[in-house]
Amino acid sequence: MNETGNRNGRGGGASANAMWGGRFAVGPAEAMERINASIDFDRRLYREDVEASRAHAAMLVSQGIVSPEDGEAIRRGLDQVLQEIESGDFVFSAALEDIHMNVEARLAEIVGAPAGRLHTARSRNDQVATDFRLWLRGALDALDGQLRDLQAALIAQAEAEADTAMPGYTHLQAAQPVTFGHHMLAYVEMFGRDRGRLADCRARLNESPLGAAALAGTSFPIDRSMTAAALGFDRPMRNSLDAVSARDFALEFLAAGAILAVHLSRLAEELVVWCSQGFAFVRLSDAFTTGSSIMPQKKNPDAAELVRGKAGRVIGDLNALLVTMKGLPMAYGKDMQEDKEPVFDAVDTLGLCLLATTGMIADMTADRARLAAACEAGFLTATDLADWLVRAASLPFREAHHVTGQLVRLAEEKGCDLAELSLEEMIEVEPCITHDVFSVLTVARSVASRTSYGGTAPERVRAAAAEARERFL
Ligand code: ARG
Repeated sequence: MNETGNRNGRGGGASANAMWGGRFAVGPAEAMERINASIDFDRRLYREDVEASRAHAAMLVSQGIVSPEDGEAIRRGLDQVLQEIESGDFVFSAALEDIHMNVEARLAEIVGAPAGRLHTARSRNDQVATDFRLWLRGALDALDGQLRDLQAALIAQAEAEADTAMPGYTHLQAAQPVTFGHHMLAYVEMFGRDRGRLADCRARLNESPLGAAALAGTSFPIDRSMTAAALGFDRPMRNSLDAVSARDFALEFLAAGAILAVHLSRLAEELVVWCSQGFAFVRLSDAFTTGSSIMPQKKNPDAAELVRGKAGRVIGDLNALLVTMKGLPMAYGKDMQEDKEPVFDAVDTLGLCLLATTGMIADMTADRARLAAACEAGFLTATDLADWLVRAASLPFREAHHVTGQLVRLAEEKGCDLAELSLEEMIEVEPCITHDVFSVLTVARSVASRTSYGGTAPERVRAAAAEARERFL
């Protein structure tokens, strides 16, 4: 809603603001009001704003700063404000700038004089910092749950495809066979670290700015530990200047969010490649693809492309706030009102990307036949051959590497696979090769042999999936 002029007929350019207009003769210019108002986006903080006001009012009463009767009127009034906002009956006003003044002005309409006592020993500077931390804390918890869901989908795929061999790549060149399950579990680890980064951010942000007031603290005998506890914070922030001016909690979230977006983008890119005709390693479900209006055969991975593309937004959100905060002097500056939109955008974008990615992974089908066929090209077992020469024929690895290179060239010339060379052909290149070499040249033997900790062998993948279930789900 973009209305100007508040419900009392004040503001709107003609007269001074009801909340701070004491020293003002005339109201703001229209452009001033528009550039100043944040209500169009910070209304998302309404629940936290009411919650923090409740805690503050209860503390003022308990400290004897506000009478129990006034405290009770404020409490009831805040309940009504919350109910009006949630039912959609609340009329937001741009002349009242932000969520804090909108809530307080409506409270005054509902309960009258006692409303004016709520802002004792408080400023919008500590209020907005408190609301924003509370809001982001809730958003971090929701994102953590979504990341867990994505990990669950990846682990389920890993278990189903623990034995499925596929080409593993470096430089996007076929390198060695790996299992599809192993590839899924690589992402489980990445998203696990993303959860860790968000959890670190949550732990550090969970201190209460409330009671720092405008910047210097207050002369009223407030109890900051009481409001901190009531709002689920671990403790009050130790320095009032820092409390109102710190936005590194938002930056830390955006940095962790940008890394998460990059991880999602990498997975999305693999899905795009894997469902292209050249690979055809997986099929995405109809639910997460679209058709073409002109080419009837097409099934486009739009959701994956959009997840890949939206990383740009989240990285931009981080950059926007970094640049806004750079060079800001102590303590609060109105520049900081620009902190909310990037954070809201990043939370919304990541939430949607996680939803779509989890859906794609859960519905995806690995094409085992295509994956097996792809393993037959590219001499994927060349390293196994070199390792065999080291183990069975005691060649130094460098020499084994050279011999294997010659055999690959021979196979390439003949247009066949390594396993299709005859023993005689091999012996011509390296006399100590025996028939036993053929036992390591199959893809299944190759993956089964990678039993080192963190390796791709199916038995390892099954154990790793079980362990990941324990650790993450
Ligand atoms: N809407 C403001 C913000 O988001 C609230 C704090 C305003 N403080 C002030 N002193 N004008 O930053």
